[in-house]
Amino acid sequence: MNADTRTRLDRTPEWTALGEHREELAETHLRDLFAADPGRGSGFTLQVGDLHIDYSKHLVTDQTLRLLQELAVATDVFGLRDAMFRGEKINVTEDRAVLHTVLRAPRDAVVEVDGQNVVPGVHAVLDRMAAFAERVRSGEWTGHTGRRIKNVVNIGIGGSDLGPAMAYDALRSFTDRGLTVRFVSNVDGADLHEAVRDLDPAETLFIIASKTFTTIETITNATSARTWLLAGLKAGPEAVARHFVALSTNAGKVADFGIDTDNMFEFWDWVGGRYSFDSAIGLSLMIAIGPDRFREMLDGFHLVDEHFRTAPAEANAPLLLGLLGIWYGNFHDAQSHAVLPYSHYLSRFTAYLQQLDMESNGKSVDRQGRPVDWQTGPVVWGTPGTNGQHAYYQLIHQGTKLIPADFIGFANPVDELETGLAAQHDLLMANFFAQTQALAFGKTPDEVRAEGVPEHLVAHKTFQGNHPTTTILARELTPSVLGQLIALYEHKVFVQGAVWNIDSFDQWGVELGKVLAKRVEPALTEGTDVPGLDPSTKALVAKYRELHGR
Ligand code: F6P
Repeated sequence: MNADTRTRLDRTPEWTALGEHREELAETHLRDLFAADPGRGSGFTLQVGDLHIDYSKHLVTDQTLRLLQELAVATDVFGLRDAMFRGEKINVTEDRAVLHTVLRAPRDAVVEVDGQNVVPGVHAVLDRMAAFAERVRSGEWTGHTGRRIKNVVNIGIGGSDLGPAMAYDALRSFTDRGLTVRFVSNVDGADLHEAVRDLDPAETLFIIASKTFTTIETITNATSARTWLLAGLKAGPEAVARHFVALSTNAGKVADFGIDTDNMFEFWDWVGGRYSFDSAIGLSLMIAIGPDRFREMLDGFHLVDEHFRTAPAEANAPLLLGLLGIWYGNFHDAQSHAVLPYSHYLSRFTAYLQQLDMESNGKSVDRQGRPVDWQTGPVVWGTPGTNGQHAYYQLIHQGTKLIPADFIGFANPVDELETGLAAQHDLLMANFFAQTQALAFGKTPDEVRAEGVPEHLVAHKTFQGNHPTTTILARELTPSVLGQLIALYEHKVFVQGAVWNIDSFDQWGVELGKVLAKRVEPALTEGTDVPGLDPSTKALVAKYRELHGR
């Protein structure tokens, strides 16, 4: 169905049918669903590459899944998917193609944008990145004074930071431990200070990552880093060439900053910032883990791309996960979605997903600019288990809110751990399995009484259960598995945006704050009377100046 003429989502028969079905299931508990179908635990699962996905602990029946798939058909999710893979300009408000899938396409693939095959360009940059990464890793690329590079500092923000920072943590056991790799994003000077205070400038390479090369935080930090470097080296601007490289789509701005465009790794406007991690933006990670491991990761992405592109609806994992999110967000009033990795290495995975999901689907007008009458993207949050269990799980178990959650775990710890530490893995994973069981099945008042709990505490110790979770289990967190996981979530976000008929690839919502910050700054520094400042903000600015001693 053409998006311009498509019926509003909440007026489709498929939407109505789901609403009615929700009413029919209102009294159904997960305990009932498992009692009716004990085979559900193995039946409601999917295998995609290395990812075993169990969705049996969801408040769904076969009919729910059928109705959700009918909604996907009515909203032409697969039509938009195919248009994306073909390189059509589905980012309608910016008139851009959306082709992060090409970043991991094989060399012989052909995908055209404006009549030109873009695949060779992608591989040319990957090859240049690989050659550069090897030179740094081998010590052939030296700093201005001839010393070997031992520290790599990536300066970027949002999509130019979160991906490589998350993946560097995720794949730490695959990294060259002789290299110190750090990430600076915040314009708060403390971020850069802490990142470089113990580094030797002669051994430090800065990677300035910015799609636009105009982002104020990044340019400010990059300028300060250059000052720090030149002061530390007691050198002039000629030292920049050996210590600064740029990752960007904007060669002009890179040159204006003073970085030789020979030291620039490019990407393209058909790669969205939050989808750019496997473009040149991944250079810091590639230096850390090496080009071969990086390519394994890209292959992992590609595997899931192909799955999403070709698997039928009933076996299509991103479609399923996207539709489950719609089931809870639109038909159960769930406001948030927790992502709970049981791997310390995935500490920053949820932070990465926050931008991916919330910047993509935090929209309130449809692709035609009409206000939407339905809920769109959820609040995405979470931290690694088991830490969350001792913080906020209480609310998930016994609070008043429905919080669907993804549990991500691995059968094996990373190879590097000593035997004693590796043995802790079973305890970690015992918690992983225990939590999803407790969330789904809870504990009835009768079960609590049978334990001899006094009557006045029975209600307090009862767990209603019925909290839906997805379990994603893989053998081990490898580069390929990480790529598979990220692509799974990228396409899940895509599915939801397609159903909601929103543009998941623009981010106009971050612009107003940027513009106002520029306007407010002189009020802070100079006390300038900024026109249009509201009375509350004006009073706060005055207080700031007073406290600052100005
Ligand atoms: O936060 C807005 C945003 O444009 C993100 O989409 C992007 O990832 C980030 O800023 C950084 O942008 P750039 O890579 O152009 O510096």
